[in-house]
Amino acid sequence: MDQHSSDIIDYYTQRYREDQRLTGRPQARLEWIRTMQLLGDFLPGPGARVLDVGGGTGEYARALVAAGYEVRLVDLVPDHVAQVRAGQPPVEAQVADARALPDADDAYDAVLLLGPLYHLVRRADRLRALREAVRVTRPGGRVVAAAISRFAGALDFAATGRLDARTLAEARILLTDGTNDPRIGFTHAYFHRAEEVADECAEAGLTGVVVHGVEGPAWTAAEAAAGGPTQDAVFAAAVDLAQVYSSEPALVGSSAHLLAAGRVPQR
Ligand SMILES: C[S@@+](CC[C@H](N)C(=O)[O-])C[C@H]1O[C@@H](n2cnc3c(N)ncnc32)[C@H](O)[C@@H]1O
Repeated sequence: MDQHSSDIIDYYTQRYREDQRLTGRPQARLEWIRTMQLLGDFLPGPGARVLDVGGGTGEYARALVAAGYEVRLVDLVPDHVAQVRAGQPPVEAQVADARALPDADDAYDAVLLLGPLYHLVRRADRLRALREAVRVTRPGGRVVAAAISRFAGALDFAATGRLDARTLAEARILLTDGTNDPRIGFTHAYFHRAEEVADECAEAGLTGVVVHGVEGPAWTAAEAAAGGPTQDAVFAAAVDLAQVYSSEPALVGSSAHLLAAGRVPQR
């Protein structure tokens, strides 16, 4: 196993509670609400077979099972896979790398890649993961891939009063190099521009790719309002604006996460 993968496993096993991520701060709750809405738009109806690659501790997988989908999950982190198997309802899960899926060609109606793309720093590795997703999806099926916006970190630091000389300097560097510096936070990660994730999806063979902003342009307002008297009104407005501007190219990059969806062509 390469050093980056070992470091990512160590990060999620020793230093981060992935199972609590989507219920915490406004950004995370917006991410959950909007990702579920967008999956509702992209996925074929209940009963469809879905592979959740990099599915973490299974929050989306369990919600999809509850909605009637047939879901299997793979993830790099053994601890995540153990939690998914032990969860309620339990979901079939296996340790695997998105770059080398153990699944057969054309096995799924849709594949989710909500994590691996932003942890793979090299473009060649991201293309391998996307091509694997395309390989295991039937012709006409969907691949849905999440990325972290190039600007998410700096916007987050600004919204939460943590932008200082060091994080501002990092924001300048990120304008030309999307690679995260793990000493500032998180772990090995790559932050995309919207056009870049669209380009990677197309190069991997997907057609009709559309990139959506997940949290919308007002997620930073929701972060700044947290704990104050307007927090609920601002949060509700952020959800509304995220829907209105979902795929508006001028605003997609202002979301913390980007969601790209495309179709697998006939072979
Ligand atoms: C922030 S979590 C997201 C989990 C879940 N998909 C979600 O959206 O809430 C990122 C996940 O990607 C997984 N991951 C990172 N690199 C991966 C790889 N190369 N192959 C498979 N999973 C990977 C991590 O182990 C982690 O569970």
